Amino acid sequence: MSNELAGKVAVVTGGAAGLGEGLARRFAAEGARVMIGDVERDSGEALAAELGGNAGFLATDVSDPEQVGALVAAAIERFGALDIMVNNAGVSGTMHRRFLDDDLADFHHVMGVNVLGVMAGTRDAARYMSAHGGGSIINLTSIGGIQAGGGVMTYRASKAAVIQFTKSAAIELAHYEIRVNAIAPGNIRTAIVAKSASAEDRERLEQFEEGIRAQMRADRPLKREGTVDDVAEAALYFAGDRSRYVTGTVLPIDGGTVAGKVIVRKEKA
Ligand SMILES: NC(=O)c1ccc[n+]([C@@H]2O[C@H](COP(=O)([O-])OP(=O)(O)OC[C@H]3O[C@@H](n4cnc5c(N)ncnc54)[C@H](O)[C@@H]3O)[C@@H](O)[C@H]2O)c1
Repeated sequence: MSNELAGKVAVVTGGAAGLGEGLARRFAAEGARVMIGDVERDSGEALAAELGGNAGFLATDVSDPEQVGALVAAAIERFGALDIMVNNAGVSGTMHRRFLDDDLADFHHVMGVNVLGVMAGTRDAARYMSAHGGGSIINLTSIGGIQAGGGVMTYRASKAAVIQFTKSAAIELAHYEIRVNAIAPGNIRTAIVAKSASAEDRERLEQFEEGIRAQMRADRPLKREGTVDDVAEAALYFAGDRSRYVTGTVLPIDGGTVAGKVIVRKEKA
């Protein structure tokens, strides 16, 4: 570690598990003070306690803009500034084999967390950053927001919205030296795939998850699986000074999945 974020203050939403936890750990290891917001109070508090005095936790449901505002305010109050906002909290919604069977029951929840949460986090962080010399905002989208496909239609729509919003916010906020970029992970092993199982698929969860992962492997030029740390590395780049002239971009961390179709070559006999 090179203390790349020494003196910086970051907020990470959805920081109690998965990619957000990895980000919070990495940012703290790089010298940042980190405020974690998540609906999972126990694991969030435990992580903040483990990270010590330079980390805090506030129970936050990002689909409620008031709670997002409280999280941003808590970071500023506790650590005296806000330099980096990571809008990472996200939910997959239920995976349906056929869109025809989708009752759209989770539409408002998925959009509330994945889109409203990101917009509220960006706005509230920007309100502070615009008056304090700028900052870096990092939104988590997905390769599902870039690449069309089936299964989780509301999720895909929400993540596509995050991309358009990120670019638009980057244009609006550049005037204040606020950079806004998005990371589009694909195929990183966290709990998110299991959480997308329908009631029926939950009964055979291992099979369900393996089926999805096998499809993901087939679509990936780099055959190895990505890690939480691969995403944290990208976030670190966007958070710090190395990306000082970079805004409005979307960086896939996906082993090449969205670059195009994998070419299957037959070995010569
Ligand atoms: N893992 C991947 O391969 C992958 C791929 C594409 C995109 N993403 C995106 O990355 C982000 C993190 O995903 P992950 O894989 O770590 O998922 P995860 O399910 O492992 O972790 C998500 C975290 O967000 C929290 N959360 C959920 N709803 C929340 C809410 N309303 N308010 C606050 N916190 C909430 C959860 O409690 C959890 O701690 C998401 O936005 C996801 O869509 C992940």
